[in-house]
Amino acid sequence: MRVITTIQDMQTEILKLKSQSKSIGFVPTMGFLHEGHLTLLKRAREDNEIVVLSIFVNPLQFGPTEDFSTYPRDFERDQSLAECEGVDYLFYPSAKEMYPHSSSVSVIVQERTDVLCGKSRPGHFNGVATVLTKLFNIVLPTRAYFGKKDAQQVAVVEGLITDFNFPIELIPVDIVREEDGLAKSSRNVNLLPDERRQAVVLFKSLTTAKETIEGGERNPRAIKNVISNLIGSESNGEIDYVEIYSYPQLKALDYLEGTCILAIAVKFSKVRLIDNIILEVSHEFGGVK
Ligand code: PAF
Repeated sequence: MRVITTIQDMQTEILKLKSQSKSIGFVPTMGFLHEGHLTLLKRAREDNEIVVLSIFVNPLQFGPTEDFSTYPRDFERDQSLAECEGVDYLFYPSAKEMYPHSSSVSVIVQERTDVLCGKSRPGHFNGVATVLTKLFNIVLPTRAYFGKKDAQQVAVVEGLITDFNFPIELIPVDIVREEDGLAKSSRNVNLLPDERRQAVVLFKSLTTAKETIEGGERNPRAIKNVISNLIGSESNGEIDYVEIYSYPQLKALDYLEGTCILAIAVKFSKVRLIDNIILEVSHEFGGVK
C-alpha cells in the first residue's frame, strides 16, 4: 500500500492506472476507521482491480459549534487497518493541500438538505459535495462506496453524481451494527458508558416502528410517536429528529407507501448519533420489506 499526501502525486498515479484501463474503487472517509468502513473497503476490493481509500477530516462540512477539533483521529491505526484490507493507495492530504486558499468556487446542494441532518447542520452537505467533487476529480473512480447509515448523504451524492455527470457508479452499502444493534460509527467512542448502554434504543425504536408498520399502521405521525416514546422512556438522550420521508427524494409523506426512510438523530452529552432503516411499504396490510 502506498500512502500519498499530495494531489499531484495521486493524480499522476491515477492517470497511469487509467491508461492501463484499471477499475478503481474509491472509499472516501474521515478516518478513525471502524467495521462499517472496512465493509466498504471489502466491497471495493471485491469489485475493483485498484482500491483507493482517502482519509481527510474535511473542515468545510463542520459547523462552527461542531466537533471538528474533537473528531477522533488515529492515522497509524487506520494505516494498518487499510493495509489489512488490501488497499492499494491511501490518499491522506492535509487541509492546506486540499484548500490552499479560500475557495473561489464551491458546490451548493439545492435539494434534500433542508431535512434530517441537513436541517440542523446548515452548509454541511455543501461541504460534503465540495470535497467529494474535488476527491472525485483527483481519484477518478470507477465506483464510489458509501454507507447507508448516512442515508441522506447517499441521496445527496446520488444527486451530485447525476447532476454533474461524474462517470462513477455509486454503491450504497448496508449499515454495519454492533451485536446489540447500535450502528457502528467513529463517534461511538465519545459515548459515556451509561450512554453506550442506552444507545441501543435507537435501533430498537426503529425495529419496533417496523413491526408497527407490519401490523398495518401507515400513518407517519403514529409511527414517529412510537419511536419518540421508546427513545424518551429508555434513554436520557435528547431527540434531535424522528422523521419519515420518501427515499431517496426525502419528501414528507401523509401515508406510508413505496420506499420510505425512518430516520432518527439523538444527542447524548458529547455526541449526536444517527440511525435509519429504509423500507419498501406496500399498500396492503403487513407488506413491508
Ligand atoms: O462520510 C464521510 O465520512 C464524509 O462525509 C465524506 C464522504 C468522507 C466527505 O468528507
